[in-house]
Order: sequence, then structure tokens, then C-alpha cells
Amino acid sequence: MPAFLSILLFSLAFVQALCFPQSFNIREVYRFPNGTWLENIAVRLNGNLLVTDLMTVGLWEIVPPTESIHSSIRLVHHFDGADDVAGITEVSPDTFAVISSNSVWQIEFNSHDDPPKATLISKIPAGFLNGMATLDEGKAVMISDSQLGLVWHLDIQTGNYTVLHRHETMEANSDLGLLIGVNGLRTLHNYMYYSNSPKRIFCRVRIDTRTGRALGPYEIVSHDTLADDFAIDPRGIGYLASLTDNEITRVFPNGSHDVVAGSKDSRDLMAATSAAFGRTRSERHVLYVTTGGETENPVNNTASLGGKVMAVSIPF
Ligand SMILES: *[C@@H]1O[C@H](CO)[C@@H](O)[C@H](O)[C@H]1NC(C)=O
Ligand SMILES: *[C@@H]1O[C@H](CO)[C@@H](O)[C@H](O)[C@H]1NC(C)=O
Ligand SMILES: *[C@@H]1O[C@H](CO)[C@@H](O)[C@H](O)[C@H]1NC(C)=O
Ligand SMILES: *[C@@H]1O[C@H](CO)[C@@H](O)[C@H](O)[C@H]1NC(C)=O
Repeated sequence: MPAFLSILLFSLAFVQALCFPQSFNIREVYRFPNGTWLENIAVRLNGNLLVTDLMTVGLWEIVPPTESIHSSIRLVHHFDGADDVAGITEVSPDTFAVISSNSVWQIEFNSHDDPPKATLISKIPAGFLNGMATLDEGKAVMISDSQLGLVWHLDIQTGNYTVLHRHETMEANSDLGLLIGVNGLRTLHNYMYYSNSPKRIFCRVRIDTRTGRALGPYEIVSHDTLADDFAIDPRGIGYLASLTDNEITRVFPNGSHDVVAGSKDSRDLMAATSAAFGRTRSERHVLYVTTGGETENPVNNTASLGGKVMAVSIPF
């Protein structure tokens, strides 16, 4: 390489590092067809990604690409007759609970390549079940109800459900077009974290990790952070999928926040809906992000494309 070129490249890299110190490496993992809206994501123990898709009302499994092999995909389960599919959470090793049309299903993988077994756990008289997290021992889950603005407790062994949390930070309004409030839901250590999309707040409450009951006040961690679902790292730092802000917003426990990937006028993370960290040793710092695609309000009115899964490297 000619010297001037390497100096130029070096300078460019230097300028880029100065201007975008928090812009982490980002790459495409898998792109779905036009019209696809990916809603949520979980990662299997073997590193494969499970994503829920509204267009096909299906749960899909993606094997991420390696240096020599392209990514591949298979349909895990189709929710016959359902209108939507939403949150997903692992309840015991390689068994997942998945929401579809206010019903919660159990999807059980087995060691063979057989189709996983799907069993209905319960249908809840909810407004709109959306995000979901598992409580200790995997006997119950907590589920955000975006329309009623509350959180349900569901016993996955008996199918019994009851309202567990109801607080003004969870309330719904129509500021974003449709009636929606509490949305993403995850647990870490002794806290339940949640987002409220129209209120643009990211919150948490200390809980009894077995029952899910509140043991402290409902706290607002950050304001001005639009979010659908999110991932949370072991230090309690949130990585919020910011929907129409087209980015991943990183929120520190003290409430300060910045953008680690994407931007308003970039298509990289257009309509970011959820995020989850990889689980294998080499992928623990890889944040997998789902998007709703570019069918509605594409950036700069460019062509529409389907939802996709992107990978962002997050050093921690
Ligand atoms: C679950 O609900 C059923 C029917 O309402 C009730 O009979 C049963 O006692 C409940 N089980 C538990 C563990 O709360
Ligand atoms: C909040 O925490 C981050 C990360 O530790 C730090 O960089 C920042 O200065 C803190 N902000 C305030 C206002 O304390
Ligand atoms: C959208 O337009 C802005 C401003 O002209 C530009 O900076 C940006 O790169 C465009 N984005 C795309 C995806 O074309
Ligand atoms: C993608 O789908 C939208 C909505 O159905 C349609 O308007 C658009 O023309 C499609 N774009 C392409 C490239 O097929």
C-alpha cells in the first residue's frame, strides 16, 4: 500500500475514533423478506438465535454465520390462527416461553433435531401481552401488558395468572399512535427493569426474585430514552432498542446515556425492536439486535426492506 494511502487511512481512522468514540462495530446477521417485523429475540445455550416475527406469526431459529459458513434459518413454530407473536424468555435450559395473541406457549427443544414441542400454558384476559422475563427457579414469568399498563405474574406450572405490578411509570397513552405503555421487561440480580415507550423512560424496581413482588420503590433510571425491548449487561447497563430513533441507546445505572450504534438517519438499526447478548464464550460481548424493517417510514424514503438481525460488538 502506498505510504500516502496508509497515512490517509490511519488519519481517517483516527478522526473517526475522535468523532465517534462510542460507535461500535456492527454487522448484518440475517435479513428477512420485505414486510417482516421482528419483535423479540432470545438466545439458545448453543448460541442460536430465536426471533419472533409478526408477519409470519412465527418463531424462527437463526444459526449465526461463522467465518466460513453463511447464516441459516428454520421455522421453529407457527402460531396457527394467531394475530401476533411477542416476548420470549428461557424458563429452563433450552425451554422457552413465548407470547402469541395474549396466550403464553412453552417451546421445548430437545437434544435431537426433532421439531420442538409446543404446549399452551395459559391464555390471559390481557390488553396486550408484550415483554416477558423469568423468575427464579423457572416456575413463573412476569409479563408486561402494554395496553393495560401493568405487569402480570404467570405460574407456568399451573397456568394461574394474577396482576403483580401496577404503577404510573407503566401506564399507557397514545402518544406514539397506538395505546401502549410498559413494553420491554428483563430481570438482573434483584431488579426488574422495564421500559415505557411513549413516556420515553427506562425504569427498575427491586423485587423478590422468587415471587416477583416489589421490595422497593419504582425508580426511573433515565428520561428521554425511547425504547421497545432491551438487553441488560452484568453491570446493570441497559442497551435499549429505540424503535424509530433507529439506534441502540446505552443507559448507565446513574441514568446518563449515549448512543452505541445506529442513528436517526441510518438504516443500520432502522426500527430497532429488541436486543440480547450472545451466550457462547466467544459471543458474550455480541449484542444481537432485531429490527422491524424499513417498510414503514423508511429513512429518507428509500426502498423498503424487511426486518433483520444485526450484531453489535460491545466491549465490557
Ligand atoms: C390455580 O387456580 C385454580 C383455579 O382458579 C385454583 O383452584 C388453584 O388453587 C390455583 N393454584 C394455585 C397454586 O394458586
Ligand atoms: C455516570 O456513569 C458513567 C459510567 O460510569 C460515567 O461515565 C458518567 O460520568 C456518570 N455520570 C454522572 C453524571 O455521574
Ligand atoms: C439520509 O439523508 C441524510 C441527510 O442527507 C444523510 O446524511 C443520510 O446518509 C441518508 N441516509 C440514508 C440511509 O440514505
Ligand atoms: C415492500 O412492501 C411494501 C408494503 O407491502 C410495499 O409497499 C413495497 O413496495 C415493497 N417493496 C419492495 C421492494 O418489494
